[in-house]
Amino acid sequence: MKLGIMASGSGSNFEAVAQAIKDGQLNAQIQVLIYNNPGIKAVERAERWGVPSVLLNHRDYKRREELDTAIVEVLQQYQVEWVVMAGWMRIVTPVLINAFPDQIINIHPSLLPSFKGAHAIEKALEAGVKITGCTVHLVCPEVDSGLILVQAAVPVLPLDTPETLHARIQVQEHRILPQAIAQLAPRTTSVTL
Ligand code: GRF
Repeated sequence: MKLGIMASGSGSNFEAVAQAIKDGQLNAQIQVLIYNNPGIKAVERAERWGVPSVLLNHRDYKRREELDTAIVEVLQQYQVEWVVMAGWMRIVTPVLINAFPDQIINIHPSLLPSFKGAHAIEKALEAGVKITGCTVHLVCPEVDSGLILVQAAVPVLPLDTPETLHARIQVQEHRILPQAIAQLAPRTTSVTL
């Protein structure tokens, strides 16, 4: 599987995928990291893993569709088959979604369909839920709404802050993201004669 990863921040999920490939848990290659915020830690991680990274700064584009057109060009240039939004903090448009139909996945820090959109962890704390978690799902035009692939539950502890809860959710993200990608891999069918 040839993966393209899109990230806006620390890139710990990028690293979890790279590590799973190295450990032989995932039969894939990361072709490219696309990022939108200059100077983010994800870029350093990509360098360490020998993965090329391409900056597409959303501030340079007037419309979301223009950014997505540039993203599609880079993904095609690097012969990407599956797109992994690993902390990509921009809403994507049909320009990207239609170029990779049912081949884009996203990781979201809540048990969808609860707490869609930005600030999912803060929303969970405000709602007072005792269990939250993370979800890997296919990307469709409606934000955080595509087919759910894998979820993991995480308890909310009485003294949790957004930071402490996020740290525990990330442990689960790093486990289920490679797992979800592995599920997408084309399987060889066995034939019974
Ligand atoms: C993750 O918690 C993801 O769920 C959210 O953004 C965070 C990205 O973390 N959408 P990282 O950049 O992979 O460390």
